[in-house]
Amino acid sequence: MLIPFSPPDITEAEIAEVVDTLKSGWITTGPKTKQFEKEIASFCHTEKAVCLNSATACLEGVLHFLGIGAGDEVITSAYTYTASASIVCHVGAKLVLVDTAPGSCEMDYEQLAEKITEKTKAIIPVDLAGVVCDYEKIYEIVNEKKAMFRPANKVQEAMGRIAVIADASHAFGAMRKGKMCGEIADFTAFSFHAVKNLTTAEGGAVTWREIPNYSSEEIYRFFMLYSLHGQTKDALSKTKVGQWEYDILLPGYKCNMTDIMAAIGLAQLRRYPSMLERRKHIVSMYNKALENMPVRVLNHYDDDHQSSGHLYLVYMLGKSAEERNLIIEKMAEKDIATNVHYKPLPLLTAYKNLGFKIEDYPNAYDLYKCEITLPLHTKLTDEQAERVINTFAGVLKESNK
Ligand SMILES: Cc1ncc(COP(=O)(O)O)c(C=O)c1O
Repeated sequence: MLIPFSPPDITEAEIAEVVDTLKSGWITTGPKTKQFEKEIASFCHTEKAVCLNSATACLEGVLHFLGIGAGDEVITSAYTYTASASIVCHVGAKLVLVDTAPGSCEMDYEQLAEKITEKTKAIIPVDLAGVVCDYEKIYEIVNEKKAMFRPANKVQEAMGRIAVIADASHAFGAMRKGKMCGEIADFTAFSFHAVKNLTTAEGGAVTWREIPNYSSEEIYRFFMLYSLHGQTKDALSKTKVGQWEYDILLPGYKCNMTDIMAAIGLAQLRRYPSMLERRKHIVSMYNKALENMPVRVLNHYDDDHQSSGHLYLVYMLGKSAEERNLIIEKMAEKDIATNVHYKPLPLLTAYKNLGFKIEDYPNAYDLYKCEITLPLHTKLTDEQAERVINTFAGVLKESNK
């Protein structure tokens, strides 16, 4: 039987919550979305959270809030999904990509420091696979470069330095040095897409730390306007009898979360601590089994890190991209779905067209070429995890002959 890569884990609890919403007479943004936002903020130890229809909308919303656009530069990793970078292009800023450090999934922090200019307005670290990046180092760099920072508006002035925006699409529930992902970076965006640890089918949330002179309420209000046409009243308040009048304060976007999505999320969040435990258990099974194989894996759990256990990345030492692809095919022949994370952005047409060249990102390429991602999800049984391990061990051994 096929072992899928990452199926959604939907139980009767999610179904009941969605049915309750459908029967309630309110299906778009309303009480359940507000409740989900409150529970996310409490889970992440932040004052507030905003739920939108994707992590991409959350990340782009942050760039809009910071007034980042033409003439500005935003830095992210070359080893990520397109959404960490495409949003920079959407707002008209210049995308700057940094290679990974040798043998690491995180940006090369020396190269990051070198790529900062007077035009740099934000850095987007990616908490890949659910492992939170070294934000102490990142804050050290942005603080060192403070004198170079040229604020162009009130909010940038209030920040007083380059903003740190975590792409934590993989890392909901992760921790670093006792702090929750969500309370570490200036802004943090999470994804609740169907393959993510916690899903709302599509969806995302953004949290933030305090900004001098800006209340959390003001930031929240910005996201409400941004995500709903810039309209002064949302659909719920407009339905109050006789309260029809509204204004449009800015030509906003339409990327709000519906109560149907939030209903799935509320039920998932109640189950989430045990789901994180289950992922941790599978990661430890994989770690133990792969210990003596010629591979390198991520450090998901140690004194400093509690990962969300989102992806199990395996770097097969010495393998070429062709050999890796063959291994993926062999796994598929044995009914095991695997994946690759990530094809570095400079290998993709859109980013080649922007002038990026893979030769400038050798470390990201080295990660990509020998990487295979094993299935890791909460519907995976111990027996299935054993099958993944045994099959992978056999296929890898065969390919080393
Ligand atoms: C690293 C990373 N960033 C951003 C996203 C975008 O998330 P969403 O689909 O919720 O917009 C993803 C989704 O796969 C991702 O893996």
